[in-house]
Amino acid sequence: MPNQETKAKQTAFVTGASQGIGAATAVGLARDGFDVAVSSTRPEKLADTLRQLEAEGAHTAAVALDVRSHTSIERAMAEVIEAFGHLDVLVNNAGRPLKKPALEVTPAEWNTVITTNLTGTFFMTQQMGRHLVSQQRPGCVISIASTHGVVAMSGRSTYGISKAAIIHMTRMLAQEWAEHGIRVNAIAPGRVDTPSRAGSAADPAYVEMALGRIPMRRFGTAEEVAGAVRYLVSPQAAYITGQTLILDGGLTTL
Ligand SMILES: NC(=O)c1ccc[n+]([C@@H]2O[C@H](COP(=O)([O-])OP(=O)(O)OC[C@H]3O[C@@H](n4cnc5c(N)ncnc54)[C@H](OP(=O)(O)O)[C@@H]3O)[C@@H](O)[C@H]2O)c1
Repeated sequence: MPNQETKAKQTAFVTGASQGIGAATAVGLARDGFDVAVSSTRPEKLADTLRQLEAEGAHTAAVALDVRSHTSIERAMAEVIEAFGHLDVLVNNAGRPLKKPALEVTPAEWNTVITTNLTGTFFMTQQMGRHLVSQQRPGCVISIASTHGVVAMSGRSTYGISKAAIIHMTRMLAQEWAEHGIRVNAIAPGRVDTPSRAGSAADPAYVEMALGRIPMRRFGTAEEVAGAVRYLVSPQAAYITGQTLILDGGLTTL
């Protein structure tokens, strides 16, 4: 194992990393040698993730972040950059689902989903871009979108619109920041079994219907999404920018 003190380590910040895809991504990046900062709206929920990161030999930072607040975004990014000195990778994982027919969505629900998933992702990315440009460093942004941002499905309009916008934001910012050596990519997972999806996972009728739409007849895992992040931030992906990597067992081929 390399000496932690002498190896110049890369640093990553994974938002919403108390559980699920965010936690698996943070641990995967630590396994690849990154020092990793993680956030939660309630930082006490990060204890288990932090234990796993430290077991991988990573230096860590844990910050409070509510991406609905611009002040919180600025503070969290400043804390992470101060803790590590610089930031190489930002993973915009924080997000929230909404399953509701379009006819019934309220302005408050719309605002919450769009503010969390889209506005939060944009301004986190803007902070990262400003940091990298001011330090004249290359870097990577990965945002977790969704297949709901690629194909249509009843009851997911608000969530799907927020994720489709992330996919286009990814193309826009990749083009704008390529000259600075900043790569901007996204990942669009299909259904992944995580704690936040436990409710529908316990509904056999839903599971049968959902599996029936997936050619591989299984859901994805948080570790598989983490694997895609690990690839996109690696030197092997150095020429990839503005792309959305779809991980869905073939769902969007139908
Ligand atoms: N699971 C799936 O099937 C699936 C499929 C496609 C895409 N995704 C996307 O993948 C990401 C992770 O999903 P997941 O299923 O692992 O977990 P999740 O519970 O859906 O969301 C991830 C985390 O986002 C954080 N979060 C929510 N609101 C926030 C806010 N206002 N500010 C900051 N953080 C906030 C929460 O962290 P705290 O509670 O710790 O604050 C939460 O644990 C999400 O963006 C989701 O939309 C999931």
